[in-house]
Amino acid sequence: MSTGIVFGSNDGDAKVVAEYIASKIGCGVLNATDLTADFLDKNDKLIFVASTHKVGEVQKDFQAKLGLIGEADWTEKTLALVGLGNAAKHPDTFNSGLVDFLPVTKGAKLVGAFDNPGYEFDYSAAFINGKFIGLVLDYKNDPQWQAKTDGWLNGVKQYF
Ligand SMILES: Cc1cc2nc3c(=O)[nH]c(=O)nc-3n(C[C@H](O)[C@H](O)[C@H](O)COP(=O)(O)O)c2cc1C
Repeated sequence: MSTGIVFGSNDGDAKVVAEYIASKIGCGVLNATDLTADFLDKNDKLIFVASTHKVGEVQKDFQAKLGLIGEADWTEKTLALVGLGNAAKHPDTFNSGLVDFLPVTKGAKLVGAFDNPGYEFDYSAAFINGKFIGLVLDYKNDPQWQAKTDGWLNGVKQYF
């Protein structure tokens, strides 16, 4: 069993972040458009990297796969979530799309909850009990995104 990193990206931002994480962990990346039940079966450690679009919804290619994701057996799997959003333009739904994964990955060991890495926002559905449910980044506006990702990876790499 091995690690799989899946990204969902409209304009390529989440792909860049996914490839950066993959380079640190030493595995490949898969576009959510190509996600299959077989891929989910074969990888017991997964990292989903997804931007938020519309009004707080997970990126569309991942959204199209939520049913498929929900059909997998998550009870033996470890999952970490990475979100991309824009705090200044979308302060009321900052990275909210990440929560769309929660109901379809029940039973998974969810790792990588993280403090707010320095963003100003008003509300995020992904900010629960004082922490984000994964790493969140404002990739377009944050020159520190790699350093923040490195800090998050320090905490989660033991699982991957
Ligand atoms: C139409 C549109 C809606 C967006 N809605 C949100 C949102 O609700 N919350 C948020 O945090 N970011 C939102 N964003 C910002 C994107 O998530 C951000 O630009 C991200 O870097 C895009 O990554 P991608 O190219 O991988 O899709 C939105 C962007 C666009 C263009």
